[in-house]
Amino acid sequence: MILVSDPREMQRLADDARRLGNEVAFVPTMGALHEGHCTLIRRARDHGDLVVTSVFVNPTQFGQGEDFTRYPRDLERDRRAAEVAGTDILFAPSEQSMYPPGYATFVDLERVTAVLEGRARPGHFRGVATVVAKLANIVRPHVMLLGQKDAQQVVVIRRLLEDLNTGVRTVIVPTVREEDGLAMSSRNSYLSADERAQAPVLFRALRAVEAAVAAGERSGDALRALMTSTITAAPLAAIDYISVADASTLEELPVLSEGRPVLVSMAVRFGTTRLIDNTSLTV
Ligand code: PAF
Repeated sequence: MILVSDPREMQRLADDARRLGNEVAFVPTMGALHEGHCTLIRRARDHGDLVVTSVFVNPTQFGQGEDFTRYPRDLERDRRAAEVAGTDILFAPSEQSMYPPGYATFVDLERVTAVLEGRARPGHFRGVATVVAKLANIVRPHVMLLGQKDAQQVVVIRRLLEDLNTGVRTVIVPTVREEDGLAMSSRNSYLSADERAQAPVLFRALRAVEAAVAAGERSGDALRALMTSTITAAPLAAIDYISVADASTLEELPVLSEGRPVLVSMAVRFGTTRLIDNTSLTV
């Protein structure tokens, strides 16, 4: 595995690989690699001859008062994890090289960014879309692998890649969970022992919704109420939002209808830590 920090060098390597007829598979990350990221990297090998992983804590997707400065950073640890998982090139650019003085271009998506995470974190998806568009131009991948854990991000990135005619395909990999169901996330490391013990309530809420739907419940309000009562049973949990929405438009659904894919999602705070989780279902 080689470590590349210069965007022009990364572009040159990707162009050389493409010229030789190699497929480039790309896993974008902000580092603090855990088993969820490593699963994406291993899956990338099934889709590409050259596997590129990026590590870049993107400042433009953090709002004021969010965790940009305390976001875990350990490039040496990430380097080892990325290599063991099967990365060929680890691309870890500096902030200066991604956003040099005079930088002025941002990518904004309409509609799909106005709800859920986009409403709770204004400007977040503008930063995500901007950096993903830049990374797609630098890494020139044929395929990008994304985790289902960030369900709205998946919707936004797919829309972006299609709208900008990038030709980049996406592969979505199911959420990797701890044994008690908590979705793996770099932010789990912020939880205190008591918060960590209660955090699997998100997973329980999703399982409760799945069970209710399997038993015939079709009312969006009833499902949202079920999630609320499940989550509020954990005293340290504070609901940011809960949602039962159309999986592609992200519009809230009053009723689940046959054949229409549904995204059930939530953001819940434990102290200063904000966790998200989701499940997709079709009735
Ligand atoms: O999911 C993430 O880690 C980030 O939002 C991404 C896609 C790497 C963009 O910074």
